[in-house]
Amino acid sequence: NQKTLILAIETSCDETAAAVLRGEKNVLSSVVSSQADLHKHYGGVVPEIASRAHIERIYPVVDKTVQDAGIELSDLDAVAVANCPGLSVALIVGVTAAKTLAFMLDIPLISINHIHAHLQSAMIEAEDIALPATALVVSGGHTSIYSCKSALELELAGSTIDDAAGEAFDKVAQILNLPYPGGPSIQKAAEKGNPKAIQFPRSMLGKDSLDFSFSGIKTAVLYHCKGQNMKGSSLVSDMSEKEIADIAASFQQAVVDVLVKKTMLAAEIQNSGTVLLGGGVAANKILREQMKQKCEKRGIRLLIAPMKYCTDNAVMIGSLAWHKYNAGLFAGLDLEASSSA
Ligand code: KG4
Ligand code: ZN
Repeated sequence: NQKTLILAIETSCDETAAAVLRGEKNVLSSVVSSQADLHKHYGGVVPEIASRAHIERIYPVVDKTVQDAGIELSDLDAVAVANCPGLSVALIVGVTAAKTLAFMLDIPLISINHIHAHLQSAMIEAEDIALPATALVVSGGHTSIYSCKSALELELAGSTIDDAAGEAFDKVAQILNLPYPGGPSIQKAAEKGNPKAIQFPRSMLGKDSLDFSFSGIKTAVLYHCKGQNMKGSSLVSDMSEKEIADIAASFQQAVVDVLVKKTMLAAEIQNSGTVLLGGGVAANKILREQMKQKCEKRGIRLLIAPMKYCTDNAVMIGSLAWHKYNAGLFAGLDLEASSSA
């Protein structure tokens, strides 16, 4: 039913977000309050700080979302929340808020897997999607390939055995002294660099493997910087802007090569004509361009999450929740937050 009114909440990491959707795709409002400023001094998300900030922000964010949508709380048909995976001390804030609202309003509570929601974000603005599709989620916490049979049926085909792609971007940015979050700052630094300057390793884990490994490339960047700079107090203190740009561009290219190659392999194995791409790293310009080129060459339809829905948001939670609402898949008020999927 495309009239169903759902309030969605997302607090899995460092964004406090809420959205109101009518049906699967009609976004009435979306608010994202980013905590990036609070965490940037530490080069990564500090769970205790994230949790406190979510607590302070959750009700103002929900309130603004409901007002922006021009609805009353009593109009809602359901409340949805990301309850896994993520930082448990962060997730629990959204889960508690959602439970409270569901209880107060006496409406169903819907639990959503954050990673599955990242894939839904690739489908929000698309029509007539031919399934099954091959789906790649690349975020700060996850790098996984699925076979997507429907919005609710995702079969895991491979994932990272160590670091996630976004995590590698964040860690390499720290090595290069570039600001947090690392993905956007590496992309920016790389614009002035040569992606062929340094041959960083492309870990494939075997010819037919759909798993990923990104810890080796992070170490390779670290050793490269150490080799270039034996005396400086910081790893990159003696390096020119051009040298840093070359490292950023070469690192980015290596990660993109692996992501594109594995996705094409998965599409071949799964015999799918559609590729879905979502998650924070899907905002990366080079990844978007090169995935597009490869898919066009093979006649595959590529659906990438729109930029505004790549990084964490609640629209993707609400859109996936609509499918669960229709299937009658509701959670109890004993719903727990879970760090794992
Ligand atoms: O999906 P997301 O907001 O949060 C998680 O669920 O993890 O993804 C955040 C990740 C961070 O690691 C960030 O560095 C990365 O996405 N990211 C990017 C870009 N924008 C964000 N990585 C590469 N290029 C970008 N433009
Ligand atoms: Zn995410």
